[in-house]
Amino acid sequence: MNKIAAIILAAGKGTRMKSKLVKVLHPAAGRPMISWPVDAARTAGAAPIILVVGHQADAVKNSFKNDSDIICAMQEEQLGTGHAVSCASDVLRDFNGTVMILCGDTPLLRASTLVDLIEFHRSHKSSVTVLTAAIMNDPYGYGRVIRDGSGQVLRIVEQKDATLEELAVQEINSGIYCMESEFLFSNINSISSNNAQGEFYLTDLISMANQQGVNCLAKSADDADEIMGVNDRAQLAEAGRILRQRINRNLMFSGVSMVDPENTYIDYDVTVGSDTTIYPNCRIIGGTAIGSDCIIETGSTINKSRIGSGCHIKANCTLDNAELHEEVTVGPMAHLRPGSILHSHVKIGNFVETKKTVMGEGSKASHLSYLGDAEIGQEVNIGCGTITCNYDGVNKFKTIIGDGAFIGSDVQLVAPVTVGANSLVAAGTTVTAEVPENSLAIARVRQRNILGYRLRNQPED
Ligand code: UD1
Ligand code: CA
Repeated sequence: MNKIAAIILAAGKGTRMKSKLVKVLHPAAGRPMISWPVDAARTAGAAPIILVVGHQADAVKNSFKNDSDIICAMQEEQLGTGHAVSCASDVLRDFNGTVMILCGDTPLLRASTLVDLIEFHRSHKSSVTVLTAAIMNDPYGYGRVIRDGSGQVLRIVEQKDATLEELAVQEINSGIYCMESEFLFSNINSISSNNAQGEFYLTDLISMANQQGVNCLAKSADDADEIMGVNDRAQLAEAGRILRQRINRNLMFSGVSMVDPENTYIDYDVTVGSDTTIYPNCRIIGGTAIGSDCIIETGSTINKSRIGSGCHIKANCTLDNAELHEEVTVGPMAHLRPGSILHSHVKIGNFVETKKTVMGEGSKASHLSYLGDAEIGQEVNIGCGTITCNYDGVNKFKTIIGDGAFIGSDVQLVAPVTVGANSLVAAGTTVTAEVPENSLAIARVRQRNILGYRLRNQPED
C-alpha cells in the first residue's frame, strides 16, 4: 500500500530552446536536464519511473539504457499533459498506490520536496495533491490554483483560459502532483480537450475530483526556485547557476575552499577532498576526483581525471582523462591528454604536453616539451624542448626511458626508441637508435668557428 510510482512527462520538443536537441537532453551541471527530476523521484522512493517520451524518443530512452527502474511510454503526438499521462497508464495497469507526476524540465526539484509532498498527501488522505508556489512578480504562463476558503483546490486555470480575476491569483501550479492510482486511472481517459488550446489538460482532473467529492489539496513549495521549468536557454543558464551554487555549497561545507564560488564550475559528479583550494574560473567535470590538500589555480579545466592528495595544478592547465598520484605539480599552461599517468612527486612545468605517457616517481619535465606514447621511469629529467617524435604520419611508436636518465635540452627522441637507465642524452641530440644504460649519447654536428667573419658590411675599425 505504500508503493510510489512516478510518471515524468518528457515528450515535448521544447520549441523555445531553438535546438536540434530535444529540450530534456540539454545538459545542466553535467548531465541531461531530465536526469535531475528522475534522480529526485528515485531518491524519494519511486519505482518504477515511467518516462513519457515522444520527440527524439530514442535519444531520451538511450540516455537511461542502464537504469532498470525506468520504463519508457510512447506518446506519438503531443496532445496535452492529460493525454501524456494516459499514455503511461497502460504500463501502470496493475499498480496500486501513489503516483507522482513530474515534468522532465524541472532540474531544480529536490527529492526532499517530493518526500514532503508524499507525506502531506498521505497524511491528509488526499486523492490529488498539487505542488504549488507563490510567485509574486510575474506568474505569466503558469496555471493558477483556485482554492475555496477551507484550502481545498477547486480547479486549476491555464493562463489562456483564465479570467482577469483568476489571473490575479499568485499561487501557481508547478505541474508536479501526487495522485492515488485508483482516482487517476479511473478518470484519466475522461478528460476532454474543450479549452482555449484544444489540449487534454491534466489539470482537469482537479475539477473532476471536486465533482466526485474527494480530497484535492495543494502544498506550497518552500523554495519557489525548485519548480522552475526550463523553457529556453536563458532559463537553462539560470538553472545551471542555481545547481552549481548548490554543488559548491555542499563542497564548501565538506571542507573545500573556493575563492569565488560564483565563478567556479563543478559538475554534480565531481568529488573534492578537504583542505583543497579552488581558485576562480576553474571547470571541473566528468566525474573527476580530486584528493585533499590540493591547490587548483585559476582557469584550469579538468575532465574525467583522478588527482591524488597534495597536488598543485597551476593556472590555465587542461587535464583530460589524466591520473595524478600524490604531490604532483603541473603547469602553468600544461596540457595533460588522455592516458597521462603521473606518479608521485612528478613535476610538469609550463608548456608541456603529455599523451598516453607514464612518468615514474620524481621525474620532471619542467619546460616546453611534447611527451607522447612514452614510458618514463623514476627520477628522470626531461630537458627543456624535448620532443618524442612518436608519429611517422601513419603509425604511432613508443619511447621508453629508464630510471635516472637525463635527457638534455632540445632532444628529439625518434620512436620507437629506448634510452637505458642512468644514461645521459646530450643537448641537441636526435636519438634514432637505442641508448644503452649508463652511457652518453651525443649526436650533433661538431662546432666549427670561422674566424674574422663579418655579419654585415661593418666599417672596419
Ligand atoms: C503545465 C500546466 C500548468 C503549469 C505548468 C508548470 C497543464 C494543462 N498545465 O503547463 O498548469 O503551471 O505546466 O510548468 O498541465 N508534455 C508531454 N506531452 C504533451 C504535453 C506536454 O509530454 O502532450 C510534457 C512537456 O514535454 C513538458 C510538460 O509535459 O515537460 C509540461 O508541458 P507544457 O506544455 O510545458 O505545459 P505548460 O503549458 O507549461
Ligand atoms: Ca512548461
